[in-house]
Amino acid sequence: MLNFEHYNPTRIVFGKDQLPRLPELLNEHGATRILLVYGGGSIFRTGLHEKIVAQLSRFHVSEFGGVEPNPEYTTLMRAREQAREENIDFILAVGGGSVIDGVKFISGAIHYNGDPWEVLERKEGCTFTSAVPFGTILTLPATGSEANSGAVVNRSEIEAKRTMGGPHFFPKFSLCDPTQVSTLPQRQIANGITDAFVHVLEQYLTYPTGNYLQERQAEAILSTLIEIGPGVIGNPSDYELAANLMWCATHALNGTLRCGVPTDWTTHMIGHELTAFYGIDHARTLAIIGPRLYENSLDEKKEKLAQYGRRVWQLSGKDDEVAKQAIQKTEGFYHQLGIKTTVSEYTQETKGLAQRIRGVFEERNWVEMGERNQFSPNRIEAIVEAAI
Ligand code: NZQ
Ligand code: ZN
Repeated sequence: MLNFEHYNPTRIVFGKDQLPRLPELLNEHGATRILLVYGGGSIFRTGLHEKIVAQLSRFHVSEFGGVEPNPEYTTLMRAREQAREENIDFILAVGGGSVIDGVKFISGAIHYNGDPWEVLERKEGCTFTSAVPFGTILTLPATGSEANSGAVVNRSEIEAKRTMGGPHFFPKFSLCDPTQVSTLPQRQIANGITDAFVHVLEQYLTYPTGNYLQERQAEAILSTLIEIGPGVIGNPSDYELAANLMWCATHALNGTLRCGVPTDWTTHMIGHELTAFYGIDHARTLAIIGPRLYENSLDEKKEKLAQYGRRVWQLSGKDDEVAKQAIQKTEGFYHQLGIKTTVSEYTQETKGLAQRIRGVFEERNWVEMGERNQFSPNRIEAIVEAAI
């Protein structure tokens, strides 16, 4: 087992009918002037907005709506201005990963003097040094953003998607109500299952380090997602299924799975480029890249792929065969969820794509990606080429 440090201060309030806890949770953090941030309008259609506003009567509330999927830098900068004008001391994010990530950016940018984009562009990682406290009301189980300190910000005008994070960016609390799943379109539920699934794989499909507990926890989440995924899509109002999906998604990226194990986030980093270039949903980019990346890295990942095949997919046989079949099973699972796994099923404009992504990686000095530094620019290019 590798050495590790684990820190996660986010209070998770999980279950239905928990909204009346909101004033108490806000008071705990001295909130008086709140910026309420949400997305494109589902909050109104589902009736959640009304219920939240009813809980906020004793606070000064300023609302900012319109954060789009893959939150846009320019939109978030407008929210920053509003927060500054309103002298906001707490932000409440209501939505999925995009709104929550957007709020993480706003919370860091409010008191940052200078151009916040420069911070996102830093090659050594984003380093906002302070953040206005924030909490979340989760409406879409997928990213785990409600329980971690990372965020991703999009800037369409330059086709860039950048990550940020750091210890200031843990939500103070997250209200996670599985009944929110009932209003989600099938496409978003499929995305959520896939994103959570790949978050686990990124922290699992590396090489064995004798961390038996973490491996079993990862396998438990993968097995649960396989067991419940199609059922949630078929019946999003089934509370037990929705609750299990929500808890799986939170657990997949709340920091526990990476304790004491190597990780490989290359699928995500390539996937972000596909979203930046084509606007393909985040989870779908992962389903496109993941299987091709595992094939490309069969030698480096064989032991864990075989373990995954045996324990999660109940396969048997020699390591080589089980590893290959495990990749096929994974891709088959995405197809079962209705997720396509090639770039050309989303766009015909793929000329030069692999070279372009290679160029982005080289420019950012990501030239030794992967748990064994195995992914050179050549291999990144080959993975993308195979995914087209
Ligand atoms: O905007 P509204 O109208 O609210 O509609 C949203 C949006 O169109 C809708 N929706 C959300 N909850 C709903 C609902 N519709 C009906 N009923 C509800 N209860 O769903 C659409 C998609 O929402 P979005 O927040 O974009 O989806 P998701 O949660 O998948 O977030 C994706 C973003 O998170 C980033 C991704 O890169 C992407 O930008 N990620 C964040 C991570 C993190 N912070 O840890 C990790 C991930 O790997 C990921 O990169
Ligand atoms: Zn993801």
